[in-house]
Amino acid sequence: MTQRSDSRHLSSLTLIRPDDWHVHVRDGEALKTVVPHTAAQFGRAVIMPNVRPPVTTAAQAVAYRERILAAAPPPLPGHTPFKPLMTLYLTDNLPPDEIKRAKDAGVVAAKLYPAGATTNSDAGVTDLRKTYTTLETMQREGLLLLVHGEVTSSDIDLFDREAVFIDTELIPLRRDFPELKIVFEHITTREAAQYVQSAGNYTAATITAHHLLYNRNAMFSGGMRPHYYCLPVLKREIHRQALVDAATSGSPHFFLGTDSAPHAAHLKEHASGCAGCYTAHAAIELYAQAFDAAGAMDKLEGFASWYGPDFYQLPRNESTITLRREAWTPPESYAFGEAVLKPLAGGQALQWRMV
Ligand code: NCD
Ligand code: ZN
Repeated sequence: MTQRSDSRHLSSLTLIRPDDWHVHVRDGEALKTVVPHTAAQFGRAVIMPNVRPPVTTAAQAVAYRERILAAAPPPLPGHTPFKPLMTLYLTDNLPPDEIKRAKDAGVVAAKLYPAGATTNSDAGVTDLRKTYTTLETMQREGLLLLVHGEVTSSDIDLFDREAVFIDTELIPLRRDFPELKIVFEHITTREAAQYVQSAGNYTAATITAHHLLYNRNAMFSGGMRPHYYCLPVLKREIHRQALVDAATSGSPHFFLGTDSAPHAAHLKEHASGCAGCYTAHAAIELYAQAFDAAGAMDKLEGFASWYGPDFYQLPRNESTITLRREAWTPPESYAFGEAVLKPLAGGQALQWRMV
């Protein structure tokens, strides 16, 4: 049931300025390319800590925030300056004291990467039990836990790793920390959408634009297409439809997180290509494309601009942005330090454009 009211007559949509609740901006020269893209569309963005070295202390988070802010352009008239919301990288031995320092420094969350699950996750958690005293402190201090929800066992089929994670890791975690706010990041399956919908008020999920727009065929149409490869990997069409239903349902448990994850093109077009899709260059337009296709443009503002801040207990943004129905074609590549960055669907026409 994805086809609801007909929004094809809409020629423009004004919404509260959205936020991106999950983005990778990397570091160094890369910041100069990607931070302006995110800051042009979003009031705030939750910055993933999987840089090298990972962000494991409050002091590192503060220094990283400064480097991001230095790469952000001045705000457009009527908008407040772009605000990076920082996260710590949860390891087997992140001390509870660091959580307190991080909270004082304005850090909003810690990110759980199961060790080996994805890009730069080798410092991640090998056994959740090892993090329990730290999670207790987070629960008490009100820091959120952001979860990359995939098991890492090579025995488990790559396409099943998210669904298995729910049963073996997430349900026990939810039971042991009933008041820890958990965001199940970049969900990709019907099982995850159903779980989040039924897991109560302390659980939410982000959904990327690419998981709303594409199924796994996109990775293989006419040859291997590495720019559609990300983790968790694109799934079957039934899962894409379940995600569209969740995102357009008006449920406050689901909100925007691009998981925009830039990699140099030569490292994606490689014998062991990196996981990650770059979408920050046209993030809100890609979401608009997905919501429009579902006849649900009226649900975009809640998903993009309300439910994220509500869950994080932060105020909604005050200014607005306007999207216009206008065909345009994003570039095929951007300079990326010494390398090149190829955005998802670069060179392909989009139907909505931020004014
Ligand atoms: C992310 C990255 O490149 O940092 N890659 C991805 O495929 N999404 C890591 C992550 O979020 O899993
Ligand atoms: Zn990510």
